[in-house]
Amino acid sequence: MAKEMGVDAEYIKEIERARRSLRALISSKNCAPIMLRLAWHDAGTYDAKTKTGGPNGSIRNDVELQHGANNGLKIAVDLCEEIKANHPKITYADLYQLAGVVAVEVTGGPTIDFVPGRKDSMVSPEEGRLPDANKGASHLRDVFCRMGLSDRDIVALSGGHTLGKAHKDRSGFEGPWTREPLKFDNSYFVELLKGNSEGLLKLPTDTVLVDDPEFRKYVEIYANDEEAFFKDYAASHKKLSELGFTPPSSCSKLINNSTALAQSAVGVAVAAAVVIFSYFFEINRRAK
Ligand code: HEM
Repeated sequence: MAKEMGVDAEYIKEIERARRSLRALISSKNCAPIMLRLAWHDAGTYDAKTKTGGPNGSIRNDVELQHGANNGLKIAVDLCEEIKANHPKITYADLYQLAGVVAVEVTGGPTIDFVPGRKDSMVSPEEGRLPDANKGASHLRDVFCRMGLSDRDIVALSGGHTLGKAHKDRSGFEGPWTREPLKFDNSYFVELLKGNSEGLLKLPTDTVLVDDPEFRKYVEIYANDEEAFFKDYAASHKKLSELGFTPPSSCSKLINNSTALAQSAVGVAVAAAVVIFSYFFEINRRAK
């Protein structure tokens, strides 16, 4: 039940307006963490083999919101509804992913490239596609591999836990992963390497990242080099936000058109210069 939509110049303008509205909403409500979790849970159901699930807005469907892994996410869906009311053209699929991108940006994280054009669907995947926090390395690999993501993506994306906290009544876990849960930085990895830090949370799936030697390699890089983390995080987040999504041809046409426009502008300028030059050359010749 995918709804067709087009990405034209007007849609792109509306995306920029929604981006500004999201910045204001997320800063005023301090809701960056739950917005990021919403974007991740809409996208993270993707199955590369069957090409089902993924960032298609289906998380707004009651059936999917009631999946155990999505406890609490109704808050974020409702917050996004305020933005949707003012920017109705934008699909839910684009809106949720844009909210994730803006959440990272306004809390001090890297800029993530955002390409619009995702289609909405109300078809929800079966329950159980998102990772279970109580399981180990092979479960994490199974889940992320199903999406088409790698070990490096797993570690970089887990750095999203630099934001927010767990809530006993939503997941059974409690507490933040870092000392400043509204700041996007590499402290999640620094804390992971410290081992047990008082008052800070470590899910079994977080601990796995230091226990598994392949994962640990990346944890050490990111703990020591925030720039390396930001660069990889931005690339992995973009991949996650585009699982199963091919930007509509109208989008690349728009980009190509603007390149063509720029090229023809240069062409016109060169032609004008030649005409002017010939004119002065002719005047000069006649004057002699
Ligand atoms: C690797 C597997 C993952 C597991 C098992 C996992 C599990 C969890 C759990 C249990 C919570 C607590 C929910 C609550 O009680 O409110 C949580 C919160 C959160 N997760 Fe993950 N997560 C994973 C990956 C990710 C990824 C990839 C991202 C984003 C890129 C992410 C972003 C967040 C954020 C921002 C919160 C805090 C939400 C809030 O403060 O309300 N997580 N996660």
